[in-house]
Amino acid sequence: MVKHENFKTCDQSGFCKRNRQFADAAAATSSWTSPYALDPASLKFKDGQLSGTILKSLAEGQDQVVLPLTITFLESGVARVSLDEEKRKKGDIVLRGDSKARKERYDETASWALVGGLEPAKGAALSEKVETGYTKVYYGAGGKHEAVIRHSPFGIEFKRDGESQIQFNERGLLNMEHWRPKIEKPVDEKEGEEEKKEEEKPEEPKGEDESTWWDESFGGNTDSKPRGPEAVALDISFPGYEHVFGIPEHATSLSLKTTRGGEGNYNEPYRLYNADVFEYEMDSPMTLYGAIPFMQAHRKGSTVGVFWMNAAETWIDIVKSKTTANPLSLGTKGHTDTQTHWISESGIMDVFVFLGPTPQDLARQYGELTGFTAMPQSFAIAYHQCRWNYVTDQDVMDIDRKFDKHKIPYDVIWLDIEYTHEKKYFTWDPLAFVNPKKMHKQLNKRDRKLVAIIDPHIKNTENYPVVEELKKKDLAVKNKEGNQYEGWCWPGSSYWVDCFNPAAIAWWKTLFKYDSFKGTGPNTFIWNDMNEPSVFNGPETTMPKDNIHHGGWEHRDVHNLNGMTFHNATYEAMLERKKGEIRRPFVLTRSFYSGSQRSAAMWTGDNLAEWSHLEASLPMVLNQGISGFPFAGADVGGFFGNPSKELLTRWYQAGIYYPFFRGHAHIDTRRREPYVPGSPYTEIITQALRLRYQLLPAWYTAFHEAATTGAPIIRPNFYIHPEDENGFAVDDQLYVGSTGLLAKPVTKESADSVSVYIADDQPYYDYFDYTVYKGAGHHTVPAPLEKIPLLMQGGHIIPRRDRPRRSSSLMKFDPFTLVVVLDKDGNAEGTIYVDDGETFEYQQGGYIHRRFSFDGSKGFLTSVNIGTKGTKTDAYAKAMAKVRVEKVIVVGAPKEWKGKKEVVVSEEGAKESARRKKAGFEFHEASGKSAAWAVVRDPKVAIGKGWRIDFS
Ligand code: GLC
Repeated sequence: MVKHENFKTCDQSGFCKRNRQFADAAAATSSWTSPYALDPASLKFKDGQLSGTILKSLAEGQDQVVLPLTITFLESGVARVSLDEEKRKKGDIVLRGDSKARKERYDETASWALVGGLEPAKGAALSEKVETGYTKVYYGAGGKHEAVIRHSPFGIEFKRDGESQIQFNERGLLNMEHWRPKIEKPVDEKEGEEEKKEEEKPEEPKGEDESTWWDESFGGNTDSKPRGPEAVALDISFPGYEHVFGIPEHATSLSLKTTRGGEGNYNEPYRLYNADVFEYEMDSPMTLYGAIPFMQAHRKGSTVGVFWMNAAETWIDIVKSKTTANPLSLGTKGHTDTQTHWISESGIMDVFVFLGPTPQDLARQYGELTGFTAMPQSFAIAYHQCRWNYVTDQDVMDIDRKFDKHKIPYDVIWLDIEYTHEKKYFTWDPLAFVNPKKMHKQLNKRDRKLVAIIDPHIKNTENYPVVEELKKKDLAVKNKEGNQYEGWCWPGSSYWVDCFNPAAIAWWKTLFKYDSFKGTGPNTFIWNDMNEPSVFNGPETTMPKDNIHHGGWEHRDVHNLNGMTFHNATYEAMLERKKGEIRRPFVLTRSFYSGSQRSAAMWTGDNLAEWSHLEASLPMVLNQGISGFPFAGADVGGFFGNPSKELLTRWYQAGIYYPFFRGHAHIDTRRREPYVPGSPYTEIITQALRLRYQLLPAWYTAFHEAATTGAPIIRPNFYIHPEDENGFAVDDQLYVGSTGLLAKPVTKESADSVSVYIADDQPYYDYFDYTVYKGAGHHTVPAPLEKIPLLMQGGHIIPRRDRPRRSSSLMKFDPFTLVVVLDKDGNAEGTIYVDDGETFEYQQGGYIHRRFSFDGSKGFLTSVNIGTKGTKTDAYAKAMAKVRVEKVIVVGAPKEWKGKKEVVVSEEGAKESARRKKAGFEFHEASGKSAAWAVVRDPKVAIGKGWRIDFS
């Protein structure tokens, strides 16, 4: 189990403890007033930005602390609130010890996390009505958003259509720990120490505890904290919102729990401090490997959210308070408010506020700021086979052959750390990987790929050019003394490349060139692990916080960004491996931050081969999706331990719904490739894999949506049915993109059915036998081992490719099947997106993007173009000219079609003689609980063309 003693609780993390105490003190004092006030005379409003000064009052006789504030109203309807501390900003402080660190609060998170969406709103305007003590700004489309800024105590209320949605400092927990000098006590002064201490201690608001202001020790490491206490904290309330989601990564439910105790609740805040927490615990607010400080609150009719853009260690407390309905006064409905408390160790305060009103709006607005998911290569969304380790090149080729022998599809085989020569990255073990070229040749035959691991720790050893260059060029992270920091990881003594340094990125790129990383080629891709960073002998298995990065920033300030800087650098390196070769990179990362979606996929780290971990993977992957980083998955089969054959099978049946789908296992586990468990498991797993491959066109289309709108790839119930209150907390079933495919993976041992929650009054059809389920509520769906509970919501058209192949690349020119699933009114709609799956030519229009519509009243199915023409459109259309739709299946077919033998097909641009051709048609009557269905055989229409099929 997880080593709890290695990781801090809030109480053991000085700034968290202080701010929780502060919150307790505020709650306990009826007359509590926040000591922060906006100076009205300082306010200026220009070009969508309000700026001014907040003054923090200290005890009598002490100067007020000056905090520059800006509130920027953005064209997108988002508001950004930033608060700094003047004294530190000016560098007007003294660092303790002989620290080499910067003096300012870190304010560069934006340069790593944000890529757009920052245009100030032209329409934002100050309210003409002047109200003493308040400043009001109208912004957002049609001026429907309103920020009501209270001067004293400082607070902001964000409203939409006049209704309060989000409140800052409503509970008075804003806390910007200002700089103060440490009053050092002479060592020999022992006598009378007690009274002296009292006299010398600067006055602080009640509840503050000086014992954690300075050096802090944990697990044998001491953090020198040269700038003293510098936390930044704020309470953010969501009135009328019962559910909050987001802030990954935690092994917790999708709807976040309260963290201040009580039955079924947590006692600890959710923590964001990227760390190597292997064998992690279920149902816990403990930190994991990555951090996205983006939270959304949801209720019927509204979704709003905040992005707390801070990269230091962060804790978030959540409490909910219920107001019950008042039976005596009509109209006072019961509701729940959610109150959150955000606490970061250092940095400026920089918060984005989203007022929705839909989950789709939030996904788009957050994506505009931090970037959308990169469009992956098509192989990357197929199946990946990994383990620690495939031990030789012969082993790799043997596995590859066995997949073929068993006719099991897979696209990518992975190499973990043992492929290297003594854990020196960019080298091959000369005895085990004797002939990488030959290995690549075999993989290339079926267009399969290889992913090799490259970690950020560089072995400290002789005769290793990589470490020699790293040291000589001075590109490693520094310790607090300013020397290159040395710690322990897989290779033993190591240094860490500092990817905050542009020179380090430039150097990193050179290492991946084919003539530098010998034995790699265009089909080699990269896995970045241990990038939290994991340091075996460091505090909490990571780097000391007083280490120094490029620019003089302490590790403390940038910790949660560290992993992203590393996988970004690898992504850039992949783009430049060979001049003129332009392929979309594939990089898997374990650590991440807001923005990681632009260059990587993620997985949920070192889970266990236990049913509870299979279960927990669903809310975790769903949460990644709504938090802007949807290319996510968990180790299929569970990393540690040996799964039973049943668990392995169920895990594959669930894993086919992870956007990133990889089997992986620890070095001490038994082999468990899909052909290992034998009959009937191998066959059942193969069926699951085939289902993933069959639906790859639908998955690719969902990725394209994510890449252009920020939408999650797998979607929770609330996202699809934002009005359905009963389904807000549902997190054990998922929708695939916009396809209406609703999957409920089995996560319980010996289960032979599942209960699927249906939110609306559409018919839902079993994917395999068209059994109809209808009516909002829970439905029992059979799930014997060989069955994957998968329904299709009426109203969608699902694209797929039905010919089983050994890798996805072999499907490139295969024909399509369209499954038209009629809704209760007999209509359906769907889209498909296809491109070459490799290059960036889609950015010049080299793609096919079409909408299919089935109109029940007119009885026809059409395909229309929804793409935008570019310079590569025609060339791509030509390459795809022969790729056709080979089958159309209509589920829920009207009984009037009985007896029909053919349909009429017309295609744009067809010759006169072929303008109205016939295609074969079969009708299957409804039987038992199964709906009627029909098939159009080979309508001979191209996937890239406009056409129409008449059924009437
Ligand atoms: C870490 C990774 C795991 C990998 C191992 C060896 O534990 O999380 O996936 O197999 O390191 O590289």
